[in-house]
Amino acid sequence: MFENRTVYLEGAFIPASEAVLPIMSHSVGRGSSIFDVLSFGRTKEGRAIFRLDEHVARFLRSALALEMAVPLAAAELQEAIKETVRRNTLQAGAIKIVGFYPDPSFSLLPPGKPLHLAIFVFDPVEDFGERPLAENEGVTAFVSRWRRLDPRTVPIEAKAAANYLNGIVARTEAKNLGFDYAIMLDLEGNIAEGGTESIFLVRQGRLLTPNIGNILQGITRKSILAAAEGIGIETFSGSLKEELLGDADEIFFAGTIHPVLPVSRVGNRTLPGAPGPVTQQLSARMQEIASGRAPGFQNWLFSVCK
Ligand SMILES: Cc1ncc(COP(=O)(O)O)c(C=O)c1O
Repeated sequence: MFENRTVYLEGAFIPASEAVLPIMSHSVGRGSSIFDVLSFGRTKEGRAIFRLDEHVARFLRSALALEMAVPLAAAELQEAIKETVRRNTLQAGAIKIVGFYPDPSFSLLPPGKPLHLAIFVFDPVEDFGERPLAENEGVTAFVSRWRRLDPRTVPIEAKAAANYLNGIVARTEAKNLGFDYAIMLDLEGNIAEGGTESIFLVRQGRLLTPNIGNILQGITRKSILAAAEGIGIETFSGSLKEELLGDADEIFFAGTIHPVLPVSRVGNRTLPGAPGPVTQQLSARMQEIASGRAPGFQNWLFSVCK
């Protein structure tokens, strides 16, 4: 149960049930919190966090983009995250770092103070009732009428709670129409990403994904591109027209919680045989890497053992 997990809050470790935020805080009222989500799992050497350095760096970049001050340096934040995992018995799951402003406020401007920090460890299914997905189970998706936030409106590379209104409306629309996930296009009508997922297409054996610029810089996206190249799959990052969704042999979402999430239907189009061979190959490869069984990728894993 989530309430029983141990949470890092401002340098102390407390029960999750005590990690609460005042309703009138700036972060509740204006969505001014930043966060990052990581994953950890079992390896032969004990539990390890996937690409901890990259996630911490992205968290710090989120803060920088929004002129927020983080009270810990990268190495201190990495250690606090490892210690939070150590203090919990969960063997595999997710970690969320949150930077927030707890003080009551009515102002639009955030308080000119450093962020407060909390770190949670959880199992999305057990703790929050997320739908469990069997290995290789496909999901359905729908091209949303809501376009991906444009980088000329807000710094979209920041993982800020307020930016997620975009994904919320898109995913809600998809759900109301009977689909699991949303695919958002950018303002030019090119494929961008899901609400909280990067997207990949496979066409004639090539792996295609939108370039960064109009999308979040997904760490799974970057990892999959590197992993694919390592096993000889040709990759392309660039502008992808919406029509490719009707043409692609395989489509999958990518993100920390479900590194490779096959799409079995987009709108009216069923993708026969999903997950296809490239999706399956990459899914297996990502599992090998995350569990420490792939030589050459050890520097992506950060052991929590002392
Ligand atoms: C908008 C968006 N795109 C893509 C992703 C996938 O990023 P990552 O692979 O770093 O989890 C996320 C993750 O939360 C996201 O919020």
